[in-house]
Amino acid sequence: MVQNILEVDHVNKSVQDASGVLTILHDINFQLQARESVAIVGASGSGKSTLLSILAGLDTPTTGTVKLRGQDMFALDEDGRAALRGAHLGFVFQSFQLLGHLTALENVMLPLELRGERDARGLARQMLERVGLGQRLAHYPRVLSGGEQQRVALARAFVQQPDLLLADEPTGSLDFATGEQVMKLMFDLNRELGTTLVMVTHDQNIARQCDRQLKIAAGHLQDVTLADLPA
Ligand SMILES: Nc1ncnc2c1ncn2[C@@H]1O[C@H](COP(=O)(O)OP(=O)(O)OP(=O)(O)O)[C@@H](O)[C@H]1O
Ligand SMILES: [Mg+2]
Repeated sequence: MVQNILEVDHVNKSVQDASGVLTILHDINFQLQARESVAIVGASGSGKSTLLSILAGLDTPTTGTVKLRGQDMFALDEDGRAALRGAHLGFVFQSFQLLGHLTALENVMLPLELRGERDARGLARQMLERVGLGQRLAHYPRVLSGGEQQRVALARAFVQQPDLLLADEPTGSLDFATGEQVMKLMFDLNRELGTTLVMVTHDQNIARQCDRQLKIAAGHLQDVTLADLPA
């Protein structure tokens, strides 16, 4: 039997604001099999980043469950969830979330050091070279361009060789050629290591390269076929 790497059941997310209760996600259900690549598409404000944060256990659903490798993430406490995340998951944020007091190299080394990897420096350097930043190792985030920061964030996620990589618009700040290079790296990881990929993207070409496309419209999720995507 193929084990689902991720199972999302009846996830709802509501927040309270000044004008009342706002429901951001409505009854989201889907499963991902290991090695699948999935694009999440949808208009700005439809709930893509909120869903991705919940899949990563970084935000909590109001109701519903998310199982990562069969483990109910929200049945765990914060520490348990962090450990599960550390073991299986890589995350690339829409806003990069690099640590400002660490260089590019140190940002990529950090997750490796946290897991006790002996050659953190060498592996981090190699990955930064693969994303084209071999000449920017000692730069701090504030002196890197937006696209360079995005590539450091990608290198930090890739270097952990996670089972599941969640990426929020991973090529959003990149020029076409660099974006292609980063996508190739993601699909190489998918092929070589069996990394399951979930990426939010506004780029139809990227969505088409994935095995599956999920669309969010005003917080409702639907499986779509390629024919449903705009050309
Ligand atoms: N904590 C919050 N409180 C109130 N509203 C929120 C909160 N978090 C998200 N929202 C609202 O939920 C909606 C979905 O936000 P989300 O960031 O998931 O959208 P998105 O699909 O990722 O959009 P984009 O493509 O612009 O990144 C938005 O309308 C946003 O304003
Ligand atoms: Mg978003």
